[in-house]
Amino acid sequence: PQPTVSIKDHTIEASLPTGQSVTVQLYGATVTSWKSNGQEQLFLSEKAHLDGSKPIRGGIPLVFPVFGAPPKNHATSALPQHGFARNSHWEFLGKSSSESMERDHGQGDLAVKLDFGLSHTMLSKEFRKTWPYEFGLVYSVTLTKDALETTLQVRNEGKQNFDFQVLMHTYLNVEDISNIRIKGLESKTYVDKTRNATSHTEASPALSITQETDRVYQDLDPTVPVVVASAADDKPVFSITREAFNDVVVWNPWIEKAKGMADFGPDEAYKNMICVEAGSVSTWQTLEAGDSWEGGQSVKSRI
Ligand code: BG6
Repeated sequence: PQPTVSIKDHTIEASLPTGQSVTVQLYGATVTSWKSNGQEQLFLSEKAHLDGSKPIRGGIPLVFPVFGAPPKNHATSALPQHGFARNSHWEFLGKSSSESMERDHGQGDLAVKLDFGLSHTMLSKEFRKTWPYEFGLVYSVTLTKDALETTLQVRNEGKQNFDFQVLMHTYLNVEDISNIRIKGLESKTYVDKTRNATSHTEASPALSITQETDRVYQDLDPTVPVVVASAADDKPVFSITREAFNDVVVWNPWIEKAKGMADFGPDEAYKNMICVEAGSVSTWQTLEAGDSWEGGQSVKSRI
Protein backbone atom coordinates (compact mmCIF):
# COMPACT_ATOMS: atom_id res chain seq x y z
CA PRO A 1 0.00 0.00 0.00
CA GLN A 2 1.02 3.56 -0.77
CA PRO A 3 0.31 6.84 1.05
CA THR A 4 -2.90 8.51 -0.04
CA VAL A 5 -3.28 12.22 -0.73
CA SER A 6 -6.57 13.99 -1.31
CA ILE A 7 -7.33 17.58 -2.22
CA LYS A 8 -10.68 19.07 -1.35
CA ASP A 9 -11.92 22.57 -0.61
CA HIS A 10 -8.47 24.14 -0.28
CA THR A 11 -7.48 21.37 2.11
CA ILE A 12 -4.83 18.70 1.51
CA GLU A 13 -4.95 15.47 3.45
CA ALA A 14 -2.32 12.77 3.42
CA SER A 15 -2.23 9.47 5.22
CA LEU A 16 0.12 6.54 5.54
CA PRO A 17 -0.91 2.88 5.33
CA THR A 18 0.23 2.66 8.97
CA GLY A 19 -2.57 5.04 10.02
CA GLN A 20 -0.89 8.41 10.53
CA SER A 21 -2.39 11.44 8.79
CA VAL A 22 -1.86 15.13 8.29
CA THR A 23 -4.19 17.92 7.12
CA VAL A 24 -2.94 21.19 5.64
CA GLN A 25 -5.02 24.23 4.70
CA LEU A 26 -3.85 26.21 1.68
CA TYR A 27 -4.71 29.27 3.72
CA GLY A 28 -1.42 29.96 5.48
CA ALA A 29 -0.18 26.47 4.54
CA THR A 30 -1.36 25.83 8.08
CA VAL A 31 -1.18 22.25 9.30
CA THR A 32 -4.46 21.83 11.20
CA SER A 33 -4.29 18.16 12.14
CA TRP A 34 -1.65 15.52 12.71
CA LYS A 35 -2.84 12.13 13.83
CA SER A 36 -0.36 9.59 15.10
CA ASN A 37 -0.62 6.74 17.57
CA GLY A 38 -4.37 6.92 16.99
CA GLN A 39 -4.56 10.41 18.51
CA GLU A 40 -4.71 14.01 17.44
CA GLN A 41 -1.35 15.58 18.26
CA LEU A 42 -2.10 19.21 17.49
CA PHE A 43 -4.44 21.58 19.26
CA LEU A 44 -7.01 23.42 17.14
CA SER A 45 -9.33 25.92 18.78
CA GLU A 46 -13.03 25.11 18.39
CA LYS A 47 -13.53 28.73 17.37
CA ALA A 48 -10.68 28.83 14.86
CA HIS A 49 -11.64 30.48 11.56
CA LEU A 50 -11.02 28.09 8.69
CA ASP A 51 -12.51 30.32 6.01
CA GLY A 52 -9.48 32.49 5.33
CA SER A 53 -10.85 35.47 7.24
CA LYS A 54 -8.27 35.29 10.03
CA PRO A 55 -5.06 33.36 10.79
CA ILE A 56 -5.94 29.89 12.08
CA ARG A 57 -5.91 29.56 15.89
CA GLY A 58 -4.18 26.23 16.29
CA GLY A 59 -2.22 23.67 14.34
CA ILE A 60 1.02 25.08 12.96
CA PRO A 61 0.64 28.65 11.67
CA LEU A 62 3.81 29.87 9.94
CA VAL A 63 5.31 33.11 11.13
CA PHE A 64 7.17 35.03 8.37
CA PRO A 65 8.82 37.54 7.80
CA VAL A 66 8.39 39.08 11.27
CA PHE A 67 7.74 37.56 14.68
CA GLY A 68 5.29 39.36 16.98
CA ALA A 69 4.50 43.01 16.56
CA PRO A 70 6.83 44.46 13.90
CA PRO A 71 9.47 46.92 15.15
CA LYS A 72 9.19 50.62 14.31
CA ASN A 73 11.26 52.00 11.43
CA HIS A 74 11.85 48.60 9.93
CA ALA A 75 11.07 47.08 6.53
CA THR A 76 8.35 45.00 8.24
CA SER A 77 6.78 47.88 10.23
CA ALA A 78 3.55 48.00 8.25
CA LEU A 79 2.90 44.24 8.37
CA PRO A 80 0.47 42.61 10.78
CA GLN A 81 1.70 40.74 13.89
CA HIS A 82 3.58 37.56 12.81
CA GLY A 83 3.75 38.70 9.15
CA PHE A 84 1.78 37.56 6.13
CA ALA A 85 2.58 33.87 5.60
CA ARG A 86 -0.20 32.68 7.89
CA ASN A 87 -2.78 34.85 6.21
CA SER A 88 -1.93 34.33 2.55
CA HIS A 89 -3.19 31.71 0.12
CA TRP A 90 -0.46 29.24 -0.76
CA GLU A 91 -0.36 26.83 -3.68
CA PHE A 92 0.04 23.08 -3.46
CA LEU A 93 3.17 22.11 -5.39
CA GLY A 94 2.71 18.37 -5.14
CA LYS A 95 3.45 15.26 -3.15
CA SER A 96 6.24 12.77 -3.09
CA SER A 97 6.52 9.57 -1.16
CA SER A 98 9.62 7.73 -0.23
CA GLU A 99 10.81 4.63 1.48
CA SER A 100 13.41 5.25 4.14
CA MET A 101 16.97 4.37 3.21
CA GLU A 102 17.12 1.99 6.13
CA ARG A 103 16.48 -1.57 5.07
CA ASP A 104 14.18 -4.26 6.42
CA HIS A 105 11.69 -2.00 8.07
CA GLY A 106 8.89 -2.69 5.63
CA GLN A 107 6.06 -0.24 5.10
CA GLY A 108 6.67 1.33 8.51
CA ASP A 109 9.31 3.55 6.99
CA LEU A 110 7.13 4.98 4.31
CA ALA A 111 6.94 8.78 4.31
CA VAL A 112 4.88 11.29 2.39
CA LYS A 113 5.99 14.86 1.70
CA LEU A 114 3.67 17.68 0.72
CA ASP A 115 5.15 20.85 -0.77
CA PHE A 116 3.54 24.29 -0.68
CA GLY A 117 4.65 27.50 -2.31
CA LEU A 118 4.18 31.21 -1.75
CA SER A 119 5.84 33.93 -3.77
CA HIS A 120 5.62 37.70 -3.99
CA THR A 121 3.34 37.52 -7.04
CA MET A 122 0.76 35.62 -4.97
CA LEU A 123 0.52 38.13 -2.14
CA SER A 124 -2.39 40.51 -1.75
CA LYS A 125 -1.76 43.98 -3.18
CA GLU A 126 -1.62 45.34 0.32
CA PHE A 127 1.08 42.93 1.52
CA ARG A 128 3.11 43.44 -1.66
CA LYS A 129 3.06 47.14 -1.09
CA THR A 130 4.03 46.92 2.57
CA TRP A 131 6.81 44.33 1.98
CA PRO A 132 7.94 44.87 -1.61
CA TYR A 133 10.63 42.17 -1.82
CA GLU A 134 10.78 39.44 -4.45
CA PHE A 135 10.81 36.17 -2.58
CA GLY A 136 9.86 32.53 -2.89
CA LEU A 137 8.90 30.22 -0.05
CA VAL A 138 8.69 26.45 -0.26
CA TYR A 139 7.18 24.80 2.79
CA SER A 140 7.51 21.03 3.04
CA VAL A 141 5.41 18.95 5.40
CA THR A 142 6.66 15.39 5.77
CA LEU A 143 4.66 12.74 7.57
CA THR A 144 6.47 9.66 8.77
CA LYS A 145 5.45 6.82 11.05
CA ASP A 146 6.57 8.64 14.17
CA ALA A 147 7.23 12.26 13.24
CA LEU A 148 5.94 15.33 11.51
CA GLU A 149 8.67 17.34 9.85
CA THR A 150 8.16 20.84 8.58
CA THR A 151 10.84 22.78 6.70
CA LEU A 152 10.79 26.18 5.10
CA GLN A 153 13.03 27.28 2.29
CA VAL A 154 13.28 31.03 1.76
CA ARG A 155 14.64 32.35 -1.53
CA ASN A 156 15.55 35.90 -2.42
CA GLU A 157 14.50 36.21 -6.06
CA GLY A 158 15.07 39.94 -6.28
CA LYS A 159 17.99 42.31 -6.51
CA GLN A 160 17.74 43.70 -3.00
CA ASN A 161 18.73 42.04 0.27
CA PHE A 162 15.98 41.45 2.78
CA ASP A 163 15.79 40.58 6.48
CA PHE A 164 13.38 38.05 7.90
CA GLN A 165 12.37 36.15 10.98
CA VAL A 166 10.62 32.81 10.83
CA LEU A 167 8.82 30.56 13.31
CA MET A 168 6.69 27.42 13.31
CA HIS A 169 3.98 28.31 15.80
CA THR A 170 3.19 24.74 16.83
CA TYR A 171 0.14 24.25 19.08
CA LEU A 172 0.70 20.88 20.75
CA ASN A 173 -2.29 19.01 22.09
CA VAL A 174 -1.87 18.02 25.74
CA GLU A 175 -4.35 16.29 28.00
CA ASP A 176 -3.71 18.53 30.98
CA ILE A 177 -1.20 21.37 31.15
CA SER A 178 -0.60 20.64 34.85
CA ASN A 179 0.71 17.19 33.94
CA ILE A 180 3.48 18.23 31.58
CA ARG A 181 6.99 19.61 31.97
CA ILE A 182 9.20 21.18 29.33
CA LYS A 183 12.76 19.95 29.28
CA GLY A 184 15.86 21.07 27.42
CA LEU A 185 15.71 24.76 28.33
CA GLU A 186 17.76 24.82 31.54
CA SER A 187 20.47 27.51 31.73
CA LYS A 188 19.22 29.13 28.51
CA THR A 189 18.59 32.85 28.28
CA TYR A 190 15.02 33.88 27.59
CA VAL A 191 13.10 37.08 27.05
CA ASP A 192 9.91 37.13 29.09
CA LYS A 193 7.23 38.91 27.05
CA THR A 194 4.87 38.88 30.04
CA ARG A 195 7.42 40.92 32.04
CA ASN A 196 8.32 43.86 29.79
CA ALA A 197 10.59 41.73 27.63
CA THR A 198 13.17 41.41 30.40
CA SER A 199 15.96 38.85 30.09
CA HIS A 200 16.28 35.89 32.42
CA THR A 201 18.09 32.58 32.70
CA GLU A 202 16.05 29.42 32.89
CA ALA A 203 16.71 27.72 36.21
CA SER A 204 14.41 24.75 35.80
CA PRO A 205 15.44 21.46 34.17
CA ALA A 206 11.72 20.67 33.81
CA LEU A 207 9.56 23.75 33.42
CA SER A 208 5.96 23.55 34.58
CA ILE A 209 3.36 25.94 33.18
CA THR A 210 1.26 27.45 35.97
CA GLN A 211 0.49 30.92 34.62
CA GLU A 212 0.49 32.97 31.42
CA THR A 213 3.76 32.08 29.71
CA ASP A 214 5.33 33.87 26.74
CA ARG A 215 9.07 33.32 26.57
CA VAL A 216 11.60 33.48 23.79
CA TYR A 217 14.46 31.10 24.58
CA GLN A 218 17.60 31.94 22.65
CA ASP A 219 20.77 30.32 21.38
CA LEU A 220 19.68 26.73 21.78
CA ASP A 221 21.53 23.90 20.12
CA PRO A 222 19.00 22.84 17.45
CA THR A 223 20.09 19.21 17.60
CA VAL A 224 19.26 18.93 21.32
CA PRO A 225 15.56 18.08 21.59
CA VAL A 226 13.15 20.23 23.52
CA VAL A 227 10.96 17.66 25.19
CA VAL A 228 7.41 17.93 26.51
CA ALA A 229 7.41 15.20 29.14
CA SER A 230 4.76 13.70 31.36
CA ALA A 231 5.12 14.94 34.94
CA ALA A 232 3.88 11.60 36.22
CA ASP A 233 6.45 9.28 34.69
CA ASP A 234 8.87 11.65 32.91
CA LYS A 235 8.14 9.94 29.58
CA PRO A 236 8.37 12.16 26.50
CA VAL A 237 5.03 13.20 25.05
CA PHE A 238 6.65 15.29 22.31
CA SER A 239 10.25 15.75 21.30
CA ILE A 240 11.23 18.59 18.99
CA THR A 241 14.54 18.85 17.16
CA ARG A 242 15.36 21.68 14.81
CA GLU A 243 17.59 22.63 11.92
CA ALA A 244 18.95 26.17 11.65
CA PHE A 245 16.42 27.32 14.25
CA ASN A 246 18.21 28.62 17.35
CA ASP A 247 15.19 29.96 19.21
CA VAL A 248 12.19 28.32 20.84
CA VAL A 249 9.14 30.24 22.04
CA VAL A 250 7.02 28.73 24.82
CA TRP A 251 3.53 30.19 24.93
CA ASN A 252 0.35 29.53 26.87
CA PRO A 253 -2.24 32.32 27.17
CA TRP A 254 -3.65 31.03 30.49
CA ILE A 255 -7.09 31.98 31.83
CA GLU A 256 -7.60 35.68 31.11
CA LYS A 257 -5.81 35.90 27.75
CA ALA A 258 -7.62 32.75 26.56
CA LYS A 259 -10.97 34.36 27.42
CA GLY A 260 -9.88 37.54 25.66
CA MET A 261 -9.20 35.85 22.29
CA ALA A 262 -12.40 35.74 20.26
CA ASP A 263 -11.19 32.75 18.23
CA PHE A 264 -10.02 30.70 21.22
CA GLY A 265 -12.39 28.16 22.59
CA PRO A 266 -13.61 26.74 24.77
CA ASP A 267 -12.29 29.12 27.45
CA GLU A 268 -10.84 26.20 29.39
CA ALA A 269 -8.90 24.90 26.39
CA TYR A 270 -5.75 26.68 27.51
CA LYS A 271 -5.34 23.54 29.65
CA ASN A 272 -5.17 21.38 26.55
CA MET A 273 -2.44 23.13 24.63
CA ILE A 274 1.13 24.26 24.83
CA CYS A 275 2.85 26.14 22.05
CA VAL A 276 6.46 25.15 21.56
CA GLU A 277 7.53 27.25 18.61
CA ALA A 278 10.82 26.62 16.84
CA GLY A 279 12.27 29.44 14.83
CA SER A 280 14.76 32.17 14.22
CA VAL A 281 13.30 35.26 15.86
CA SER A 282 15.75 36.83 18.29
CA THR A 283 17.84 38.24 15.43
CA TRP A 284 17.19 38.80 11.72
CA GLN A 285 18.39 36.57 8.94
CA THR A 286 19.69 38.65 6.07
CA LEU A 287 19.20 37.06 2.70
CA GLU A 288 21.26 38.45 -0.14
CA ALA A 289 19.95 38.69 -3.68
CA GLY A 290 19.84 35.23 -5.26
CA ASP A 291 20.50 33.38 -2.02
CA SER A 292 18.34 30.87 -0.21
CA TRP A 293 18.02 29.70 3.39
CA GLU A 294 16.38 26.71 4.99
CA GLY A 295 15.22 25.85 8.49
CA GLY A 296 12.91 23.29 9.99
CA GLN A 297 11.68 21.15 12.83
CA SER A 298 10.91 17.52 13.45
CA VAL A 299 8.25 16.77 16.05
CA LYS A 300 8.09 13.23 17.38
CA SER A 301 5.22 12.10 19.52
CA ARG A 302 5.24 9.51 22.32
CA ILE A 303 8.47 7.88 21.29
C1 BG6 B 1 3.36 33.84 20.37
C2 BG6 B 1 3.81 35.17 20.90
O1 BG6 B 1 4.31 33.32 19.51
O2 BG6 B 1 2.13 34.03 19.67
C3 BG6 B 1 2.73 35.74 21.79
O3 BG6 B 1 5.04 35.04 21.61
C4 BG6 B 1 1.42 35.84 21.04
O4 BG6 B 1 3.15 37.02 22.26
C5 BG6 B 1 1.08 34.49 20.47
O5 BG6 B 1 0.42 36.28 21.92
C6 BG6 B 1 -0.22 34.46 19.66
O6 BG6 B 1 -0.19 35.42 18.66
P1 BG6 B 1 -1.47 35.66 17.76
O7 BG6 B 1 -1.11 36.81 16.84
O8 BG6 B 1 -1.70 34.38 17.00
O9 BG6 B 1 -2.60 35.97 18.68
